[in-house]
Amino acid sequence: MTTVHRYDAVIVGAGGAGLRAALEVARVTPRVAVVSKLYPIRSHTGTAQGGIGAALGNMEEDHWEWHMFDTVKGSDYLADQDAVELMCQEAITCVYELEHWGLPFDRTPDGKIAQRRFGGHTRNFGEAPVRRACHAADRTGHMILQTLYQQCIKHEVTFFNEFHVLDLLLEDNVCRGVVALSLADGELHLFHAKAVLFATGGFGRMYKVTSNARSLTGDGVAIALRRGIPLEDMEFFQFHPTGIYKLGILISEAARGEGGVLRNRQGERFMERYAPTLLDLAPRDIISRCMYTEIREGRGIDGKDYLHLDLTHLGREVIEKKLPDITDFARTYLGIDPVREPIPVQPTAHYAMGGIPTDVRGRVILDEKNTPVLGFYAAGECACVSVHGANRLGTNSLVDILVFGKLAGRDMAEYIRGADFAPLPKDADGPAREECERLLTSNGSESVARLRETLQREMMDKASVFRTQEGLEAMLTTLKELKDRYRRVRLQDKGKIFNTDLQEALELGYLLDLAEVTVVSALARRESRGAHYREDFPKRNDAEWLKHTLAYRINGEFELRYKPVVITRFQPVERKY
Ligand code: FUM
Repeated sequence: MTTVHRYDAVIVGAGGAGLRAALEVARVTPRVAVVSKLYPIRSHTGTAQGGIGAALGNMEEDHWEWHMFDTVKGSDYLADQDAVELMCQEAITCVYELEHWGLPFDRTPDGKIAQRRFGGHTRNFGEAPVRRACHAADRTGHMILQTLYQQCIKHEVTFFNEFHVLDLLLEDNVCRGVVALSLADGELHLFHAKAVLFATGGFGRMYKVTSNARSLTGDGVAIALRRGIPLEDMEFFQFHPTGIYKLGILISEAARGEGGVLRNRQGERFMERYAPTLLDLAPRDIISRCMYTEIREGRGIDGKDYLHLDLTHLGREVIEKKLPDITDFARTYLGIDPVREPIPVQPTAHYAMGGIPTDVRGRVILDEKNTPVLGFYAAGECACVSVHGANRLGTNSLVDILVFGKLAGRDMAEYIRGADFAPLPKDADGPAREECERLLTSNGSESVARLRETLQREMMDKASVFRTQEGLEAMLTTLKELKDRYRRVRLQDKGKIFNTDLQEALELGYLLDLAEVTVVSALARRESRGAHYREDFPKRNDAEWLKHTLAYRINGEFELRYKPVVITRFQPVERKY
């Protein structure tokens, strides 16, 4: 029996974007629910390490215009500049809001919020690095998540923890709620709502080496696609340069912000050859490519596929005080003490620039004319505003979740004041129920774990930092086979209570869909821009490709449309660092 709940606003996902939006909606109604497949403070925002960018100018002169320039240049000129301008202005207020809510930022000797260097952040439009990342050691995201959760508790937001959302109720361009599976007892719940916001995070789990937690399977993004929403700029997936070798666990850019350097097997600081001004603090797309180039040319450590991140010259005090978590990771996972030895690192799948298209009010849009879907919102990594374009600037994911979580929550609050509950569709929980039953009763012979492993390995090989037409086409063939085999998976656990077998099967379905959109969009874009590097089209091509991709899935087939990039202050020029 499906239980029905009624809330003015339902927010799916309890990371930074979801909680920030919930706080805004809670100002106008007590009927706001956050539905999350995790316990809220296990959300992935909690793993963000190095800092949140805002031009506070606490360490030296800084301006939001400089932050805007760095974001646009970092994006390889694909970000919409009106949205970036708003984000960089609002970042400052959002950081002070967190401070006033009690977030324990590190401090300068005179008591201001401390800031550090981060990749691609510069003063005076690219002249030299600037300290802009506001930090709480290397656990800034953890502190943000705790602070927002405390505020939500204070404002009596209702939480449905460990409820996995499986479907979006959308009819006649009006959103009506969601269907979720209660993990504790396997029952379906229907959330009837005036408005829904997806803040379901990214989908780095489609790759073998990733910084993303196991839960980052793109559920909301895939559900939106299945319900007819296009996905924007899915070909752009960021690889962070410093993941722990083979494990992918993030070693924050803050390590380089504090003075750490990358070295090859000859001990050479190779970034001097590639980015003479910003060196190891060049943007991530560039450093990740340089690392792969070093490896391909035989300068990986011991000729293998990793390099060294060297912090040994920073001294014990800086390392243990400013970078305690990553120091712990290196000691725990590698048995290496970064005070004395370099850390083996390789690029790790980190962040999806693409996702559900929205305007700056968080409203999900349906087409190149920016037609909004009534009552449907998205914010955070699952959304594409677009402020990150082809490559996100470090620290801007935290800025994005706060600024656009807040703005989306504000618009949602306004919307629900004037809206009624639209009737539920007939058999609203039918499709979700059928999918669960199909998976639970399937008698095939395929294993979810094996299919997922193949997906992750092949995506890493054919659709990661370097791409070619041949590799992408081969990946599409592999995806078709995997999807076919997915129809024949067999679950070992057929029960209802905390059935993680079922959950993982559902998540694999989402990942397969998203991998397909990523590859289809990447095949079509015959140029190199930001994180999308085509070896067969190595140059950026503004004449043909200065535009956003919108990928629709119609009757199982993809249709790609395009929409223009908003350019206001900064005309595209070649990126040099
Ligand atoms: O390196 C880091 O601490 C990651 C930050 C980010 O992705 O913005």
